[in-house]
Amino acid sequence: MYEIKINLAHKSYSIFIKNGLIDYIGKEIKKNYKNKKIAVITDINVEKFYGEKIMQQFKNDFEVKMITVKPGEKSKSLDTLEYLYNELLDFEITRGDLIIAFGGGVIGDITGFAAATLLRGIPFIQIPTSLLAQIDSSVGGKVAVNLSRGKNLVGNFYHPEAVFIDPILLRTLDKRFLYDGMAEVIKYGCIRDEKLFKSLLEYENEHELFNNIEEIIFRCCSIKKEIVEKDEKDTGERMLLNFGHTLGHAVEKYYNYEKYTHGEAVAIGMYNITKRSEDMGITEIGTVSLIKEILKKYNLPYELPNMDKSNNIKTIGLDKKNKGSYMNIVLLKKIGNGFIKKIKREDIEKYI
Ligand SMILES: NC(=O)c1ccc[n+]([C@@H]2O[C@H](COP(=O)([O-])OP(=O)(O)OC[C@H]3O[C@@H](n4cnc5c(N)ncnc54)[C@H](O)[C@@H]3O)[C@@H](O)[C@H]2O)c1
Repeated sequence: MYEIKINLAHKSYSIFIKNGLIDYIGKEIKKNYKNKKIAVITDINVEKFYGEKIMQQFKNDFEVKMITVKPGEKSKSLDTLEYLYNELLDFEITRGDLIIAFGGGVIGDITGFAAATLLRGIPFIQIPTSLLAQIDSSVGGKVAVNLSRGKNLVGNFYHPEAVFIDPILLRTLDKRFLYDGMAEVIKYGCIRDEKLFKSLLEYENEHELFNNIEEIIFRCCSIKKEIVEKDEKDTGERMLLNFGHTLGHAVEKYYNYEKYTHGEAVAIGMYNITKRSEDMGITEIGTVSLIKEILKKYNLPYELPNMDKSNNIKTIGLDKKNKGSYMNIVLLKKIGNGFIKKIKREDIEKYI
């Protein structure tokens, strides 16, 4: 079993990664948690595949309730949050009990936010089930819900007691979501891990990818751990994780979050910003063609769609992460070596 320890000034906890972990997750949780009640929050898709299995794990040792919401981003709303609060209160949950987020990033984010806020904080555990959640959203403590005027506008930093990752669960994930998550895996390779990037390029098929998925997840989580430990509250180095995201967000938003998944938009962002930075002599020649090759291999788009550029610039200029008249963008020196560049806001046009 891989174990990654996250050490923050105020809290430490572990991420465990192991194929088949779901089959003895009850025992693992019982080792450290003596709570009486467990509330498992999930969505209908995950419940369909694994609901019974996870309930079996807890039913002998805990009083357990499963709360299920509709799948998809629409569930990351204030309405769903209120529904969760009510279900948890009906269960008479206390601050001594435990909440488990069992699902993709949507479930992780909203469950984490509910846990952070209900009764001023209830301990929670992440059992992420999508690739994106296993390599990204379950690590780092960001929890949030959306408002109708924007994504993740209400949130907090609230870390789980532990994260348990079973890569076998990914076998039931829809292919589009698998490749969506692969975009973020590729991003880690681009910014910090040339070896990971090269092995992703070499895998001959999905079978080989799955044979190596435990290690891939371990490497991604290790990179995120290292960055989050240095910059938990996202005021500096954590920005590195946004490689491809500045333009990606603009693409997602332009198409009203309907045409492209987040990962697809990030793929377009990574390719296009690197194309520019390579032309400008900032990035080693040949980098963008490697990015194109890897994106094609994992069924991800790279071409910037025909969009109104001024709209992109406006969207990027209004990005809540940018401050003052300068902004930070993430570029590559080469594969495995990303860095943050501070640019004048008006210069963004050169990079997108
Ligand atoms: N907190 C963070 O740091 C952070 C980072 C990145 C993204 N996010 C958030 O994550 C969310 C996206 O996460 P996501 O891509 O996991 O979306 P998601 O939670 O909607 O899951 C994607 C789909 O896969 C299904 N699914 C999940 N696991 C499955 C499994 N094992 N088998 C079959 N189906 C399964 C879900 O039901 C859903 O339909 C966004 O809301 C985004 O804002 C948060």
